[in-house]
Amino acid sequence: MSYKNLLVEVADGIAFVKINRPKALNALNRETLLELQQALKELQGKKDAQIIVLTGEGGKAFVAGADIAEMKDMNPTEALAFSRLGHETLGMIENFTKPVIAAVNGYALGGGLEIALSCDFIYVSETAKLGVPEVTLGIFPGFGGTQRLPRLIGKGRAKELIYTGKMIDAQEAYNQGIANKVFPADKLMEEVTQVARTIAQNGPMAVSMAKDAVNAGYDMGAEEGEVIEMTAWGNSFATHDQKEGMGAFLEKRKPQFKGE
Ligand code: CAA
Repeated sequence: MSYKNLLVEVADGIAFVKINRPKALNALNRETLLELQQALKELQGKKDAQIIVLTGEGGKAFVAGADIAEMKDMNPTEALAFSRLGHETLGMIENFTKPVIAAVNGYALGGGLEIALSCDFIYVSETAKLGVPEVTLGIFPGFGGTQRLPRLIGKGRAKELIYTGKMIDAQEAYNQGIANKVFPADKLMEEVTQVARTIAQNGPMAVSMAKDAVNAGYDMGAEEGEVIEMTAWGNSFATHDQKEGMGAFLEKRKPQFKGE
């Protein structure tokens, strides 16, 4: 799997996807978004990749936003198409059948924070700086920031970040509930890898079904969400992994999950 703007490596059940445009602080242009879509399609069928870790190359930025140079001269039709491409790509991440963890190792601004928000959860390095500075450019978040951020941290806090455009540090991102954990910069990848490895050892079908149930139920009323859970939970008993997981427990051995 080789790309112009991405580095993809699979090891120990984990696919590490790095946005690789360090000279532009990993800004998302059309080409990079399309490559991300392609990478997800390829990782979909790869049994040796149970979980994705998304991060940025270069040590300075996770992703510093959508590519301002590419956007500057867009007309409204082109801007709409670009926003749609961003939404499609981030939607693919959010609904990907395998978990996706964002390892935010530097600036995560604008589209950079928005792509992190489409992941299942976010870990940040102590050196990370996060924000949605689009209003300083005369626009506002266009890759889902006005939707995912309020759902994650509440309307008031999201509006404060969106209207001011101010950057927050890693600790503030943790305090606001954007980041699940903060790690020293030189430990981030090691810690994320450890969590990813734990998840990769669990029943892949179960993790995938849980992701789907949380996502599908999130914007519904509790009763509808409970129906989603019950239905999926019942279906989990049709999997090899359920028989194997419970059988292994009773036989006091390690389960051999197949993701089937
Ligand atoms: N798009 C294109 N290029 C970018 C970029 C972006 N979002 N962010 C940084 N770069 C480029 C810079 O232009 C610069 O290129 P040159 O070396 O060719 O001049 C290079 O990356 C390094 O950047 P700086 O010299 O600015 O680095 P710095 O350390 O002084 O500052 C920074 C770092 C604070 C992150 C600053 O680069 C910055 O503010 N970047 C823009 C952040 C931003 O506004 N993001 C939102 C974009 S709009 C968006 O994302 C829309 C949406 O909702 C989808």
